[in-house]
Amino acid sequence: MPSILEQLNQRFAQALAGQWPALPPALVVPASQAKFGDFQCNIALPLAKSLGQSPRAIAEQIVATVQVDDICEPLEIAGPGFINLRLKLDYLARQLQALQTDSHLGVTPVAIPARVIIDFSSPNIAKEMHVGHLRSTIIGDCLARVLEFRGYEVLRLNHVGDWGTQFGMLITYLKEVYPDALIQADVLDLGDLVAFYKQAKLRFDEDESFKEASRQAVVKLQGGDPDSLQAWQLLCEQSRREFQVIYQLLDIRLTERGESFYNPFLPGIVAELDRVGLLTEDAGAQCVFLEGFSNKEGQPLPLIIQKSDGGYNYATTDLAALKYRLETDQAQRIIYVTDAGQANHFAQVFQVAQRAGILPDPSQVEHVPFGLVKGEDGKKLKTRSGETVRLKDLLDEAVQRARQDLENRLMQEERQETPEFIQQVAQVVGIAAVKYADLSQNRTSDYVFSYDKMLALQGNTAPYLLYAYARIQSIAREGKVSFQQETEAISMSLPEPTEQQLAKALLQLSEVIQEVEKTLLPNRLCDYLYDLSKKFNQFYENCPVLKAEESLRVSRMALCDLTARTLKLGLSLLGIPVLERM
Ligand code: ARG
Repeated sequence: MPSILEQLNQRFAQALAGQWPALPPALVVPASQAKFGDFQCNIALPLAKSLGQSPRAIAEQIVATVQVDDICEPLEIAGPGFINLRLKLDYLARQLQALQTDSHLGVTPVAIPARVIIDFSSPNIAKEMHVGHLRSTIIGDCLARVLEFRGYEVLRLNHVGDWGTQFGMLITYLKEVYPDALIQADVLDLGDLVAFYKQAKLRFDEDESFKEASRQAVVKLQGGDPDSLQAWQLLCEQSRREFQVIYQLLDIRLTERGESFYNPFLPGIVAELDRVGLLTEDAGAQCVFLEGFSNKEGQPLPLIIQKSDGGYNYATTDLAALKYRLETDQAQRIIYVTDAGQANHFAQVFQVAQRAGILPDPSQVEHVPFGLVKGEDGKKLKTRSGETVRLKDLLDEAVQRARQDLENRLMQEERQETPEFIQQVAQVVGIAAVKYADLSQNRTSDYVFSYDKMLALQGNTAPYLLYAYARIQSIAREGKVSFQQETEAISMSLPEPTEQQLAKALLQLSEVIQEVEKTLLPNRLCDYLYDLSKKFNQFYENCPVLKAEESLRVSRMALCDLTARTLKLGLSLLGIPVLERM
């Protein structure tokens, strides 16, 4: 079902095509202010300029040509030549009726289900998963859900850091202090592993012979030595188990394809860059000199592809991954979700890939950057004792606080609930709050992590939206009605302004989803759901539902039902389940 905006644009384009040269693609846009109506068309002004006529005369011509009287009230020309469009109520009602029977709530699937790869989460083995990875996980999952819902074939890839010098250090160190960990499963947890990694790194930095032993260990591992491979497997397994705990809590599905996967393809990348003449030797290393990147002295910056000791870099693996994803996976679009600090890395990799002919069309790849998560003191998020926050602890605390809030509320309302209910609600609300706090920010900005803010029942928060949904369910429960059953095949009427506002908001979902698909900004969907909930609450304050006279009653129940379904769908695209009661 085309959205209202699409329908209007189609009508305008049909009527005006051929009349004037070079019309802009968006002839109709949402009204800048409610007092101008619902939509507006502002093209008379630029057209007038290029044609040397008066904008008003052009606007009058447009109004006379375009056929929209089944959709809009008579078009109005305002000011110098703006055309204002106001939707007809019976049109709104008909659109809503169509929405009512559409399981996709107006969001049409794409015509061609192109394959999209989303590279997200991607923590590093033997290191703690940090808040940056949490952001990547939450944002990447949301984008995957939105694109999947639109019908794309999405491959969710976890590009874990499971290869490289850290394993040489770890294996060498563990051989000294804890050899069992290299041959036996389950003797370490990730906390131990991280501690060992830190100690190994210290040794590496200050002890020459340790450094040399570590290098040899890497060479051995890369050469496929069975004992090294087994040790490496064990270390990965241990980290994986911990990551899985987080993914389980957050309900994240991911296919792991770590850096090691691309290891066999790295020599081929070097050869390919050499073949196309991009490779230069610089101080023993093989590199590509970048265009548009220079060091402090203004010299062109090299991207190191192979180090002088023969080892490869993060960028080399990303080149191999990009080639594999384009050629073998046949991805049409590849999205990388990492912190903004990696913007240069991706720009450089994309540039080299393009110049080497690996990436024919640079619009196929996108780095989706995000800002930092800060503590309430405005500095990097830390525990009270100054350590990095473990994600598991962070999520547990959110759930714990959600439980506390709920228990307080139950006490105030003198409500009795079972421990199972309390546990379930706290779990959903706590995790939802963390996810929503992240997604509702424009991802490119930094944000301050605040349990109090994200758990508040008021404002642009998960609890507010979940509550709006639960409230609608309680209206049905109290009235002992099933919205869905009673509102099938009814005709809607929308006499009150607040119900008209709500109706218009309900009809915007498909526009919003398309915008998220284009901009990859989940906060647009959050803003929409927040606005919808507010409009629902205004409607519900002004319009009786179950006590309204019969024809209005079913129409209003249908509005309730559609709002609940839109909230449920929208939240599910954010990775948040709803609660029937809370
Ligand atoms: N492991 C990296 C990190 O922790 C993120 C990997 C992102 N994906 C990629 N293809 N480089 O920073």
